[in-house]
Amino acid sequence: MDNKNIESALHETRQFPPAPAFAAAAHPNVGELAALHAAAERDHVGFWADQARSALQWHKPFTQTLDESDAPNYRWFADGQLNVSVNCTDVHLAQHGDKAALIFEAEQGAVRRLSYRELHAEVCRFANALRNLGIGRGDRVILYLPLVPEAIIAMQACARIGAIHSVVFGGFSALSLRDRIEDAGARLLITADGGHRGGNVIELKAACDKALSEGGASIEQVIVLQHTAHDVPMQAGRDLWWHDVVSGQPDHCEPEWVGAEHPLFLLYTSGSTGKPKGIQHSSGGYLLGAKLTAQWVFDLKPADVFWCTADVGWITGHSYVAYGPLANAATVVLYEGGPTWPDAGRFWRIIQDHRVSIFYTAPTALRALMKLGDHIPQQYDLSSLRLLGSVGEPINPEAWMWYRSVIGQDRCPIVDTWWQTETGSILISPVPGVTATKPGSCTRPLPGIVADIVDDEGHSVTTPDTGGYLVIRKPWPAMLRTIWNDNERYVSTYWERFQNRYYVAGDSANRDADGYFWIMGRIDDVLNVAGHRLGTMEIESALVAHLRVAEAAVVGRPHEIKGEAVFAYVVCRGERPTGDTREFVEELRKWVGEQLGAIAKPDEIRFTDNLPKTRSGKIMRRLLRTIARGEEITQDISTLENPGIVEQLRGDDGSGKGR
Ligand code: PRX
Repeated sequence: MDNKNIESALHETRQFPPAPAFAAAAHPNVGELAALHAAAERDHVGFWADQARSALQWHKPFTQTLDESDAPNYRWFADGQLNVSVNCTDVHLAQHGDKAALIFEAEQGAVRRLSYRELHAEVCRFANALRNLGIGRGDRVILYLPLVPEAIIAMQACARIGAIHSVVFGGFSALSLRDRIEDAGARLLITADGGHRGGNVIELKAACDKALSEGGASIEQVIVLQHTAHDVPMQAGRDLWWHDVVSGQPDHCEPEWVGAEHPLFLLYTSGSTGKPKGIQHSSGGYLLGAKLTAQWVFDLKPADVFWCTADVGWITGHSYVAYGPLANAATVVLYEGGPTWPDAGRFWRIIQDHRVSIFYTAPTALRALMKLGDHIPQQYDLSSLRLLGSVGEPINPEAWMWYRSVIGQDRCPIVDTWWQTETGSILISPVPGVTATKPGSCTRPLPGIVADIVDDEGHSVTTPDTGGYLVIRKPWPAMLRTIWNDNERYVSTYWERFQNRYYVAGDSANRDADGYFWIMGRIDDVLNVAGHRLGTMEIESALVAHLRVAEAAVVGRPHEIKGEAVFAYVVCRGERPTGDTREFVEELRKWVGEQLGAIAKPDEIRFTDNLPKTRSGKIMRRLLRTIARGEEITQDISTLENPGIVEQLRGDDGSGKGR
């Protein structure tokens, strides 16, 4: 990274302290937060030990808090034993057994409520069913489900028996699903006949059949939830209905006590090279992070109704739908469908109908909803809201202000939460009853999180508003443990850049004079499209897998709603397509969608005779980015083999222009 080129473009000066009434009732309040910070600064490891002892129920207490002997493969609370599902359900039965754990709204409108007692019973039944099929400790189970209560039940049931779940987002293609099955070596696949999205049926079972017909040989059985109730073929001996496997199962289930380091789940995420990374999270440390941050950042109170709109296919849906809120005995809203189905008021109507008090969503959704006009949210009663959250990408101040004034009616604090699949839980965020917020800043690190910004040499950047690498200087309990099957990649991706001294997040950031962090974006070749990470390499590999494509380079371009758009330069085998290329462009987009999933489809494709490369043969991505953005070229292009290519890349020669 060329540090000199990273300059803070934003100069936001507005500040919003929490309203006195909110601050007075909040936990942590000013004093409590200061005490937490002070304790963590005094004794980092001791702080986390205290938190782990008081926040979680241990079957066997731990005696060693942090084991650094294999750094950067840190281990937390390793000789302690617990069960995550017990900590999310059993522990609440006495006091909160009748409280709603899940309020589920189907896209077609049906509402289903599960109390903690009912959730516990369903988890136990399904866990017993899994054990009956021979699934147990350490087995990998892939979940490919719509956002329905059974997705949470299946995750919790895996946790109960010590199986390792890996949720694959239902929007991913059959081939992506197959790759994840194979990398994880999963024995069991749990899916549904289909899901609902925007009035359409998503053919989940069909995608599973395709994935398994083209590989995925480790899968022995498939459990199919009947949800859309359309006809799907069932393969005898392999496919089983969910309702059949749970039928007759008892509603109690002895938990498997696992060591705190036992993997709770794998979640695949994009990296800068082609293959997705199986991010491995632990049981004890992960749950601690999810539980504490849900308290600290969302100020959870017994009467709150918490709605995080993320799908369980993403980390946000793990930490702030399936685990964190449940560990706090909160009431969680689940909504299966699209934000504008059947009309643009759907989200706001859900908030009104279920009296949602805490709403947590992504800037991409906010920008899309904002575009539809203020009059839509204004038709609904949003008075139940008291706190708003944002996650997944930088939120532009305009969307932040809209969120505050139109949705929060200037009453609700906004928590802009920075974190990653790898960090397990929120690391940098306002604490809503304490922090004065600034539109577009995730403000300061939470207690026990030692975040910093460093320059190319790894020195702390102390000059305000100067960019650098965002790093975390000390290990924290919820951090990833490794990349499944590839510890070398774990070390090289997150640690090697600064000789294993600190965790390198892959984001650039700057700090203002008040010590507030401002995230500037990714520094690796990873795009952030609609709040989801996409590796440019993955999309390039998908394009090159097409018969007619010889070479491809993918870059990001700012996009009004999605944050970043996917822009692909494509070199074809044989002649460069000219004239009307729309049909071929559509074919390539569809192809990428089939390979990776719809979110990866290029928004624009431009055909060129060759790609601009450096003398050492590296694609000049910065040049391609500049061109994709329509900016003036300031890079040195004298080393280009064929300088005329720039016109082609720009599309200025009038040919080969995609959509
Ligand atoms: O670039 C940062 C951006 O999303 C990346 C992590 O993506 P993922 O692992 O998919 O997790 C998303 C949900 C936690 C980060 O490296 N990002 C996430 N939250 C923010 C953000 N960028 C700016 N502000 C945020 N609040």
